[in-house]
Amino acid sequence: MEEVLAELRRRYDRHDWVRVTEGYSGAGVWRLDGNPGCYVKIAGHSAHPDGGFHPLAEVERLAWLREQGFPAPEVREAGERDGSSWLVTTAVPGRSAAAEWPAEHRGEVVDALADLARELHSVPVEECPFDRRLEVTVPHARQAAEAGLVDLEDLDEERAGWPAARLVEELDRTRPDREELVVCHGDLCLPNVLLDPDTRKVTGVIDVGRLGVADRYADLALATRSLASDDLNPRYGPELADRFLARYGERDVDVERIAFYRLLDEFF
Ligand SMILES: Nc1ncnc2c1ncn2[C@@H]1O[C@H](COP(=O)(O)OP(=O)(O)OP(=O)(O)O)[C@@H](O)[C@H]1O
Ligand SMILES: [Mg+2]
Repeated sequence: MEEVLAELRRRYDRHDWVRVTEGYSGAGVWRLDGNPGCYVKIAGHSAHPDGGFHPLAEVERLAWLREQGFPAPEVREAGERDGSSWLVTTAVPGRSAAAEWPAEHRGEVVDALADLARELHSVPVEECPFDRRLEVTVPHARQAAEAGLVDLEDLDEERAGWPAARLVEELDRTRPDREELVVCHGDLCLPNVLLDPDTRKVTGVIDVGRLGVADRYADLALATRSLASDDLNPRYGPELADRFLARYGERDVDVERIAFYRLLDEFF
């Protein structure tokens, strides 16, 4: 990772580098201020069958999303060497939905997220070459658990302290027997959507490595968890999570499917 970073720093030496996050998946992200502004994401190798960051998965999906007319970053370069992968994208304008939006604008941010979900979910699945059905994701979840690659320190509160075997048992026990397939973002949480601070329109969809055909609830479960979660600043809260579902058009919310797709996310 250090070598890839050093090489990229040389290649983009006219930009000012600012560290953004120690990624969830162990990825590091830097904002490169300059013209054009860029983002660099670098990650070490992961043995997880599909957790974490795979730049090539993200490259294909960013290109596909842009072809469909969704605002997403342009890829400048991506590669893999000595066990490290990297992705350089141009910065999309706007501010993350997870930023501190004034209270009077939060409702509109939530509406924009719901509209984005609905638009993405209305793309015909035949158009989408990426498969994230349970047939694909459940075996990956199981492999990750067996290989000890599930982060048991980072489980949702209701599962805190569970061993991996119990997670797998619960996954098998609650697996829905049907899927309502649409194109899902796959990690539709607040930090992964950017909006124009003045108009509250979506300006960018990012972190798309898990985009693919899946049950609608894969996105609904993560978006509502992100909205209702306490550890986000500002806290949107359960009322705005309900507003998201209403705006999306989900009248009879299937709480079991919400729970299942949150559980499934623990493995990735
Ligand atoms: N092209 C971009 N334009 C604008 N902001 C970006 C861009 N890429 C990344 N960011 C910012 O950096 C943050 C982290 O990037 P990203 O979501 O891709 O990484 P991550 O969440 O750490 O990755 P992962 O979940 O794969 O570990 C985003 O939430 C966003 O604020
Ligand atoms: Mg992210």
